[in-house]
Amino acid sequence: MRTPLLLLSRSCKSVHRLQQSPFFSPLTALSRQQRIAVLRYSSTHSCEDDKSYYITTPIFYVNASPHLGHLYSAVIADCLHRYKLLQGFNSRFATGTDEHGLKIQQAAEAAGKDPLTFCTDVSERFKHLFNSCNISYTDYIRTTEHRHRQAVKHFWSVLCDKGLIYKGSYEGWYSTQDESFLTASQVADALDSSGTEIKVSLESGHKVEWMKEENYMFRLSAFRSQLLDWLRGNPGSVQPERFYHAVLHWLQEDLPDLSVSRQRSRLQWGIPVPGDAEQTIYVWLDALVNYLTVAGYPDKHEQWWNMAHHVVGKDILKFHAIYWPAFLLGAGLPLPQTIYVHSHWTVGGKKMSKSLGNVVDPLERSQMFTTDGMRYFLLRQGVPDSDCDYTDNKVIKLLNAELADSLGGLLNRCTAPALNPAQVYPSFCPQSFPSEQGGRAVVEDYHMLDAVRNLPAVVEQHYESTHVYKALEAIAACVRKTNGFVQRHAPWKLDRRDSEDQRWLDTIIHVSLECLRIYGTLLQPIVPGISNKLLSRLGVRPGERSWADVNFLPRYQGMDCPFEGRALGSDSGVLFSRLESQNLDKQKPKKTKTANSI
Ligand code: MSP
Repeated sequence: MRTPLLLLSRSCKSVHRLQQSPFFSPLTALSRQQRIAVLRYSSTHSCEDDKSYYITTPIFYVNASPHLGHLYSAVIADCLHRYKLLQGFNSRFATGTDEHGLKIQQAAEAAGKDPLTFCTDVSERFKHLFNSCNISYTDYIRTTEHRHRQAVKHFWSVLCDKGLIYKGSYEGWYSTQDESFLTASQVADALDSSGTEIKVSLESGHKVEWMKEENYMFRLSAFRSQLLDWLRGNPGSVQPERFYHAVLHWLQEDLPDLSVSRQRSRLQWGIPVPGDAEQTIYVWLDALVNYLTVAGYPDKHEQWWNMAHHVVGKDILKFHAIYWPAFLLGAGLPLPQTIYVHSHWTVGGKKMSKSLGNVVDPLERSQMFTTDGMRYFLLRQGVPDSDCDYTDNKVIKLLNAELADSLGGLLNRCTAPALNPAQVYPSFCPQSFPSEQGGRAVVEDYHMLDAVRNLPAVVEQHYESTHVYKALEAIAACVRKTNGFVQRHAPWKLDRRDSEDQRWLDTIIHVSLECLRIYGTLLQPIVPGISNKLLSRLGVRPGERSWADVNFLPRYQGMDCPFEGRALGSDSGVLFSRLESQNLDKQKPKKTKTANSI
């Protein structure tokens, strides 16, 4: 076999061929150094079409209606998808619903519906939420679809053929809420609401039960060193860094084989194990394969599968950063490029849950605060590294300050007929604002120009690492600076009859509109509606709104500005209407009931 180092100089297609060769799976035949080299290459190098990008959300359980946390996962992925499109990528964005498993089976029973009808109803609610919130998915997958069952069965057979699945007897703790197996050290004593002693998962707080079953096991333990190699060779594979270290830490602990099926007598609502009708495939294996199904597995998944990025909440990191890569390694498939992890929204300091009665309805909130308002709030206040507490008042304060007053106020000032009677993108005068001081601009103005010129690069860096809140912080700071610029020079006080004053006034407006054009362009992945309104008002055409168009203030650099002298777009009203806090109490989420005992 050729050495991987030699292969690195060849096309990355060869790495795929190598990965899929029977000699290659798992990567055990290679030295550790070589394995790292191959994994790093296959995980970071763009194949065939450098401009393909594939982003996914987790697929959502249909046992209950969508809540704010679900919308948050979807908004993060939507933002990345829109950002990549702006950069000229051919981006694919998948979301959908996770419909098999014991908890769905039980929820359907409790609702008195047959499982598929129940799943269809709730799945439609997710779809409705996403459509209402401008989540621009390209694919919506349901695990009850035929194409998915085929993909899961095929995937299972590949693992089986490679000797990675064997029949065994599982005995241990299981949490139906999390659909997860736990070791004794992951379980604690607690009391339920009636005072009865129960066992719960330390991580989620959900009740666990002892289970003893004959089922199929996956040789997870065989993959520890390959997983470590992958992570060490790809420090950006799990972001933010804090979660990357958490995964490395988990891999230091015991990594027992994983039960990947349940007895059909206990779980009927799922995909039967190929060749054994007495067993149902474990819901997490079934669910994770959705990412491959959308990519076209098993026939034509390569274009997308080589470019896969997953957005996941911190509660499902282990499934995505340990189980999933191990399954993929076992099946001889490339690993995801990046797993973007986010933390949780809490209410009153507690995780949102139906049993606590503190669930925030995202549809209701986006009707109250507008879709763009909610998107902006979630991405501006949501910090991937740590949990954030939700209150309506925070939403109102933030949106009034940054969208209504600061951004909306700036647009309003610069397009108001009083200052801009001709309703055009006025001319820039290099003598008034020369590249060296000496005109009418002052030192703070030059600092502002520097900040706005650097903004696209700053925003790009933060979007790439899904620290979207930092990108929005940087944009908000620049908007404040531009407002300061206008305020400082008070163009409304200038004498229009004086030609020099008129040229300076035009220059102030030109610079401010250029700033607004940059903000509008960069904000498109976050608030598509507001950005469209803003850019349309400035007269920026749809074909002039991509990442390649963020060439700020070309006239200052002695170049032509395509917008100079162009008519502004029509005035379609305020950019974002101020929100009132009255009547909010009525809409506040219900008070929390008994707290979980851990
Ligand atoms: N079905 C699994 C995922 C399978 S992916 C192959 C699942 N579903 S879920 O509906 O419970 O969660 C979906 C997403 O919502 C996860 O990313 C989860 O972290 C996120 N959120 C659930 N509650 C949340 C908050 N309170 N806050 C933020 N996001 C949270 O897990």
